[in-house]
Amino acid sequence: MTGEDDRYVIRSGRACDAAELARLQASVQLQAVTGGQPHPGIAAWVGDLLGGHPSVVPDDFLVAEDSVTGRPVASLVGLRQDWHLAGVRLPVAQIELVGTAPQHRGNRLTERLFAALHQRNAVDGVPVQIVEGIPYFYRRLGYEYALANDGAPTMPATALPAAEPDRSNGTGGLTVRPAAVADADELAEIDQRVADGNALVCPRDAAVWRYEIAGRRPADIARREVAVLVHGTDVRGYLVHGARLSAAGELIVVAAACRRPADWPQAATAMHAHLGQVGQQYEASAGQPFAAVRPLLDPEHPLARLGPPGASRRPRGWYVRTGDPANLLARLQPLLRARWHAADLRWPEPALTIDTYGRAARLEFTDGDLTAVTAIHGAASPSTDPQTHAAIPPGALLQLALGHRTLPEVLDIWPDCLLRDRLTEHLLTTAFPRVPVWVWPRN
Ligand SMILES: CC(C)(COP(=O)(O)OP(=O)(O)OC[C@H]1O[C@@H](n2cnc3c(N)ncnc32)[C@H](O)[C@@H]1OP(=O)(O)O)[C@@H](O)C(=O)NCCC(=O)NCCS
Repeated sequence: MTGEDDRYVIRSGRACDAAELARLQASVQLQAVTGGQPHPGIAAWVGDLLGGHPSVVPDDFLVAEDSVTGRPVASLVGLRQDWHLAGVRLPVAQIELVGTAPQHRGNRLTERLFAALHQRNAVDGVPVQIVEGIPYFYRRLGYEYALANDGAPTMPATALPAAEPDRSNGTGGLTVRPAAVADADELAEIDQRVADGNALVCPRDAAVWRYEIAGRRPADIARREVAVLVHGTDVRGYLVHGARLSAAGELIVVAAACRRPADWPQAATAMHAHLGQVGQQYEASAGQPFAAVRPLLDPEHPLARLGPPGASRRPRGWYVRTGDPANLLARLQPLLRARWHAADLRWPEPALTIDTYGRAARLEFTDGDLTAVTAIHGAASPSTDPQTHAAIPPGALLQLALGHRTLPEVLDIWPDCLLRDRLTEHLLTTAFPRVPVWVWPRN
């Protein structure tokens, strides 16, 4: 995979790398937490990813091998998954487990692993990569903070409703119990419904739900507890939370959904009561005080909105990259068409060109309706080119496309986001509304 004439070879992962990669990653990740000891949760996660994960294959890992010893000295994994943006499927690669052995740092191995990943995703038509991590570091590799899926207030344990709610305190007969493998089909069906809604989500099929419920090793740091919301025997939703308290005594919540949005007011009460109960159990078994529930959710998520008041938090950002803005817009074509139809908007010219200062996308219209999106060369000077309708820096386009920021917000922040006229501004404002983020990525 690499032709560089030096000590390191960049290659795909192999099943036989499992032990070496588990050792490498466990010895570089979260070392501040372990005090320099190997992290057992990371080792278990790598073992799970390389042995039995329903949507990961060894080839998803990229490895820098030291040609002197033949051993992996740096690696990452690109976890492929299909997200849905307001009902439209969006292939995404989530990058995890980025790490280099200390004695091999200083050789830009991460940069080279990312270059190989980007090349691979371009060939495979995966338009978007995301990663969470070291502040600023991934900007250097072409990433932009263009997504946030948390910021919901932290709820103190003392504010949670009674552990055994009944009809008189507002759950309407809804209760929450631990999920069983037999619930997987229902959970997948709920995800499908949510994926057809207006949010950005990462739906799971039944095989992935089974894996989340019972497939991971107990020590896997990515293991979560899945609970189901039920009315009698009827599965109405789910709640996914941490498998233990954090060092700060917080119980994290990573996902929650209801089959019927109308259930949310009662469902939220039942879920919060369940979280209180789980927190107390964890407190008893770990001998560590249960301080709060910390939802890693959008503040507008119903579980957060309908919860007891808590301490507000600044959302963390996720880095996002696209190597191919035209492909990204082409994927969103049905959504753009639907949004323009709903607003009764038609474009009067045969095409609209969005230039991202390098690459450009040509949106083609027939009788005012969007019919195609193709990649074209960007103009030498997009800000003055008469054929260019909008000049939008790639990071700003990502923010718009994913619904992270609206066009007025982008125009306020980016002086180099330039629009030809008011009609272009109106069309693009309608194309890119803010989208709620309900993503629990697959890992
Ligand atoms: C982050 C890490 C993967 C980088 O290793 P690497 O690919 O070998 O990178 P290099 O040492 O060649 O450094 C490349 C550049 O990134 C910078 N850099 C490296 N680590 C950094 C960090 N933690 N924060 C900010 N910048 C960092 C270097 O200073 C260097 O900058 P320069 O080009 O100005 O000299 C490695 O330090 C590591 O394994 N850290 C522990 C695990 C970790 O934090 N992983 C990332 C989780 S998101």
